[in-house]
Amino acid sequence: MKIVVLFASPNVHGSTSLLVESFHKGAREAGHVVEVIDVTKAKIHPCTGCVACGYEGTCVINDDMTEVREKLLNSDMVVFASPLYYYGMTSQLKTTIDRFCAFNSSLTHKHLKSALLSVAWNGDSWTFEALMAHYQTLVRYLNFDDQGMILGKGCGTPHMTKTSKYIKDAYELGKHLI
Ligand SMILES: Cc1cc2nc3c(=O)[nH]c(=O)nc-3n(C[C@H](O)[C@H](O)[C@H](O)COP(=O)(O)O)c2cc1C
Repeated sequence: MKIVVLFASPNVHGSTSLLVESFHKGAREAGHVVEVIDVTKAKIHPCTGCVACGYEGTCVINDDMTEVREKLLNSDMVVFASPLYYYGMTSQLKTTIDRFCAFNSSLTHKHLKSALLSVAWNGDSWTFEALMAHYQTLVRYLNFDDQGMILGKGCGTPHMTKTSKYIKDAYELGKHLI
């Protein structure tokens, strides 16, 4: 399976990255091909809402999203990887997702598998409620096939994350994809 990870933490060596590495290792061992796209470094401008694309067509903005679109439409699975920022995803990931607008239909028809990897400082039971609800709504709307969520509570620093159970959980998720 071809897997595209939309990596959306500004910290290249942070906690989100640790989960992505573990997931990647597991998936690679299981024979999958994983490509990580750092959407925080890519040039991806916010959707202008012009809808010149008609929700399926050429986007008027010519930037790195053209390549991301092609890669997603040639993949079997998308993984959203973002730290928790004010109880949601990072703005870089949201900006990327908004640009799905120009290939909304083709993306929906792909019936991609999907997963969510996230980390947060907070350890309360409700920490990921809003992000989970958003992700699950995207899964439903975009006709994704959810493979799982790794939601690292109490993962405020790379040290906290390294010693957490979520590293293994991310590895297992990648390893047992079918
Ligand atoms: C702008 C900003 C907003 C954050 N918002 C939250 C939050 O709402 N809840 C929380 O528990 N942690 C929050 N955090 C902490 C990060 O989610 C946490 O430190 C995470 O491990 C960072 O991941 P990274 O190493 O990949 O950057 C926030 C951090 C930043 C910089």
